[in-house]
Amino acid sequence: MSDTVSTSRTQQHDVLIIGSGAAGISMALTLADSARVALVAKEALTESATFYAQGGISAVLDKTDSLESHTVDTLNAGAGLCDEAVVRHVVEHGPQSIQWLIDRGVNFTRESNHKNSADYHLTREGGHSHRRVIHAADATGRELESTLAQQARKHPNIEIFERHIAIDLITGSKLGRRDNRCHGAYILDRDNDEVIAFAARAVVLATGGAGKVYLYTSNPDVASGDGIAMAWRAGCRIANMEFIQFHPTCLFHPEAKSFLVTEALRGEGAKLRLPDGTSFMEQFDENAELAPRDIVARAIDYTMKRSGVEYVHLDISHKSEAFIKEHFPTIYARCLEYGYDITQQPIPVVPAAHYICGGIMSDIHGRSDIEGLYAVGEVAYTGMHGANRMASNSLLECLVFAESASRHILEMLKQPGTTQPLPEWDESRVTDSDEEVVVTHNWHELRRFMWDYVGIVRTDKRLQRAKNRVDLLQHEISDYYSNFRVTSDLIELRNLTLVADLIIHSAILRKESRGLHFTLDYPDTSEDKTPQKTILIPNNYLKAGIK
Ligand code: FAD
Ligand code: SIN
Repeated sequence: MSDTVSTSRTQQHDVLIIGSGAAGISMALTLADSARVALVAKEALTESATFYAQGGISAVLDKTDSLESHTVDTLNAGAGLCDEAVVRHVVEHGPQSIQWLIDRGVNFTRESNHKNSADYHLTREGGHSHRRVIHAADATGRELESTLAQQARKHPNIEIFERHIAIDLITGSKLGRRDNRCHGAYILDRDNDEVIAFAARAVVLATGGAGKVYLYTSNPDVASGDGIAMAWRAGCRIANMEFIQFHPTCLFHPEAKSFLVTEALRGEGAKLRLPDGTSFMEQFDENAELAPRDIVARAIDYTMKRSGVEYVHLDISHKSEAFIKEHFPTIYARCLEYGYDITQQPIPVVPAAHYICGGIMSDIHGRSDIEGLYAVGEVAYTGMHGANRMASNSLLECLVFAESASRHILEMLKQPGTTQPLPEWDESRVTDSDEEVVVTHNWHELRRFMWDYVGIVRTDKRLQRAKNRVDLLQHEISDYYSNFRVTSDLIELRNLTLVADLIIHSAILRKESRGLHFTLDYPDTSEDKTPQKTILIPNNYLKAGIK
């Protein structure tokens, strides 16, 4: 797009935060006492992966647990690719982040659900050697997000923009300058069909993950990889995109739209079985149902394919009805809607795309490669998760990095500086589309081949097939994008296709199996003592090894 015709409004704030999940909303609240914040969400304020988080947030909160143990478990799950300094930073700041939430009024479940009990109930999940997951029954994200959203709405320094979708970042080069700085973003107001230029001294990408790149996913519709795509187009490095986490247990039901069944169910004793009642996890790992998630998802995938079944069963019915209803009220109620009483019977489950371990390369302060541009939460690659994220470490990472990035931004704002005047969005050379079918068709095609060719088990041949298809789609969408007025579907499709390309490209580059990346052509893990990250560099598109 060129930048000459002025047809739209502009906005100015100290900080522009794109995304209002755990990362974005906690940053807004931390910054707002000292800065004017724009908080942008492409749907309603609370609609985010955060809202749907069930299991909880991991942190060392029990006397028998230790920071060392949480660190070691995280490093083990990460299969040699975690950045140990980052893991230690996050784990050490965990208890403080949980206290921040408690001080804000987030109501976590207490031991035995006694309101006055001093101790919080901690559950267990795969890969954790201790009980260390604090939670609000089985709806932790809903409690966190609604509590913080209520406070954000009341804060005089936070201006909220719902149903506004960011299209692209505005960097120095866009303004004809030689600086490597981010000055703002173009954002589509979806209800008024108007593109607004948002100027800010600091811009935060907190746009979450990219689960919608796959046909089956636990993620809500907002998870279309927009932040990763915007950062890549602006010139940021992107790392470790091949490591896609598939959650082992999403409800198998035509109307359930990948409803997640929390790992905490297995933490409290639920068993995985074939529909004929045979258990199978013992054959794959000594920790059986509580093995790290990559192992459980692959075991289910293998068992389903070998036995020719469409799903496996997850069964917690041996626990008392009172225990199930107290700890898993949301899952109990939701399954009942679909005709399954989990206190009495097993439920059918399948794996689905859940979490992206890779993302925008960012440092311990959340800084990206571009000055003034921060990436926080699932959108970022910090080194915390390596080749496989341990359960409940994601919300923790969001909160800890939200705090450290906020601190860095507040320091930066103390330096002299102003927001820059921005060119308005130019629509002089585009028209309304008369071929919306291109968008819907390509959307379905992309998600289908990503599921079939770039899923839990990969091969060179499948990846190459996916690469050929994604190249074609990128070409077609780029052409379409230059000719037609932007819509949110088009913005998301353009981003999903780019993110798919980055995933495929990264998967092709990794000639081994490690953590979440498993390929039949290289089934072993390389013996390299210092395994390499996959780092993609815009305009270079090659792999380097060192951050
Ligand atoms: P999100 O919470 O996804 O928020 C993204 C925000 O960005 C949204 O506000 C969205 O509207 C906005 N956005 C995106 N693109 C744009 C754009 N272009 N313009 C404007 N706004 C945009 N992790 C745990 O640690 N524990 C759990 O128990 C847990 N359970 C989970 C259960 C489910 C069903 C899912 C899907 C994930 C779960 N996870 C869990 C993972 C965790 O919830 C996410 O990684 C985390 O919530 C991500 O937070 P975030 O703030 O980075 O992004
Ligand atoms: C779950 O509750 O199983 C999800 C936890 C997570 O993704 O961290």
